[in-house]
Amino acid sequence: MGSRVRFLRITGLALLALSVSACQFIAPNVEDAPLNSLDPEGPFARAIDNLFWPVFWIATGVFVLVQGAIIVAAIFFRDRDGRREPKQIHGNAKLEVVWTIIPALILATIAVPTIQQVFELTECDPEAMEVEVIGHQWWFEYRYSGIEGMPEGEEIETANVMVVPAGEEVCAILTSEDVIHNFWVPKLNGKRYLIPGQETVLRLQADDPGTYAAHCAEFCGLSHSLMRAHVEAVPRAEFDDWVARQLQPAPVPAEGTPEADGLQVFQDAGCVQCHTVEFEENDRNISDNVIAREDFNGPSLTHFGDQYRTVFAGAVLPEEGEDFEEALKRWLADPPTIKPGSYMPDLGLTEAEIDSLIAWLETME
Ligand code: CUA
Repeated sequence: MGSRVRFLRITGLALLALSVSACQFIAPNVEDAPLNSLDPEGPFARAIDNLFWPVFWIATGVFVLVQGAIIVAAIFFRDRDGRREPKQIHGNAKLEVVWTIIPALILATIAVPTIQQVFELTECDPEAMEVEVIGHQWWFEYRYSGIEGMPEGEEIETANVMVVPAGEEVCAILTSEDVIHNFWVPKLNGKRYLIPGQETVLRLQADDPGTYAAHCAEFCGLSHSLMRAHVEAVPRAEFDDWVARQLQPAPVPAEGTPEADGLQVFQDAGCVQCHTVEFEENDRNISDNVIAREDFNGPSLTHFGDQYRTVFAGAVLPEEGEDFEEALKRWLADPPTIKPGSYMPDLGLTEAEIDSLIAWLETME
């Protein structure tokens, strides 16, 4: 008997330690918990939060009442020496009706604002700027077209970091190129599936400029846990500048420079099979790389050096505190080790080739 009690105690403590350790993900220090869904920083996340807390407290009240009644009954009516067996009864219609009606009323009360919110969160403001979000194994792609100040037929294509104007609604139109993914920016809204051949809608808005962490929230293969993203909210004027920069083609490096060597490596080593770079002139036969892109593409590298594109490789690099260039070296030397199952292969690049690639990539702002 004693060993059994000890076993139960140890198991209980272990479970407690395990659940408390999970709290680090919702630590009060916001910097340590970028995916904290209890810390809304925009109107849509706040709408969910405003629904969550009343439901949470109602559930807590029910829990305390029910568990309390069970504990009281177990203590006061327990079997004791000399106690007679209580009178056996079966059922009590009045009580049963009461404890069916009360939960039904509570659920009905919760359902009204919940259903209202579900509809409100699924329909974008028709005035909102649209951004297409495309899921890939294992990174997010963003396409902007038809936004204010953008010439007809032009498109901006970028990856990992979604740049948006702060304080304005952005209507994300979600879809997937391969399997089902899920785009989740906890501080800006709830989760939404990305489904191949279908479009789903996610309203996003950040109160203030800042970097908002995002993560794929649906198991989508080997490197699902390495499929992250950033939403970078910037003031309107800076967003307009960003759009203007994104519409510029990549600069063609001058002959004989390390950047020119880098571009040569890009073309010769096979990077060009998946990645696009849009140049002004097509004479380098690079932006004609549309054949590979029909059914499969890697992130566009045209503006890889952009000031907001601070992460790469599905936004898992650079790691916290790691130098961008060091991380890029590590990535180019052996992508499959960093991202198991990655479509980016180990191309067997030499150190010199990697250095020139980086020199070139950094010029593409
Ligand atoms: Cu994409 Cu998990």
